[in-house]
Amino acid sequence: HIDAIIFDLDGVITDTAEYHYLAWKKLGEEIGIPFDREFNETLKGVSRMDSLERILEHGGRQNDFTPVQKEALASKKNDHYVQLIQTITEKDVLPGVENFLKQIKEAGIKIAMASSSKNALFVTEKLGLMTYFDHIVDAATVVRSKPDPEVFLKAAKAVDAAPANCIGVEDAAAGVCAINDAEMFAVGIGDRSVLGHARMILQSTKELNLETFLNEYAKKD
Ligand code: G6P
Ligand code: MG
Repeated sequence: HIDAIIFDLDGVITDTAEYHYLAWKKLGEEIGIPFDREFNETLKGVSRMDSLERILEHGGRQNDFTPVQKEALASKKNDHYVQLIQTITEKDVLPGVENFLKQIKEAGIKIAMASSSKNALFVTEKLGLMTYFDHIVDAATVVRSKPDPEVFLKAAKAVDAAPANCIGVEDAAAGVCAINDAEMFAVGIGDRSVLGHARMILQSTKELNLETFLNEYAKKD
């Protein structure tokens, strides 16, 4: 049986993965490190500081900034991002998501969120989805960023769920690694070439359906 379904936020519940990309891209251009969507795949699910480190390394500039300057760059990116998320409303919930959350609630299965974003609560409130979640892990309390399983394990513990009885839903390669390492069942939403290490892959949130989850999960061992 399933104790809990644990969701990533950005790129799964709403399309804020695009806003993170735009904000990092803008910062990258400001410091002379342009990058494309393919490189951006390696940033998805990764914490703010770890993302900055990856970008600096990508541009061969990892030794050019002091810790204080890095903090300033990260906060500049966040300013760009926060500006983009101000106008989020209920209409920005991806198709199929709210219906799926209703199905899970009605089935008596716990719902949790495992996001690496310090803006997760703000975004979830803007989307009007707070009441569905039994627990949202505060990213500020997570020490090790995805692909480390910490955030998923914390979410499971908070809702009294055994990891083996949890399903994690992700759009990022790092997130699927985190779910696998937490020994949960990983569902990837997106491209098979990026998420091939998930147990089940959906092309879009429109395919989210509890019956499909239960059937695939039942076949897992
Ligand atoms: C999520 C996103 C990442 C983002 C991270 C930190 O995991 O997928 O792209 O870098 O959160 O977000 P924050 O809002 O704290 O900068
Ligand atoms: Mg994501």
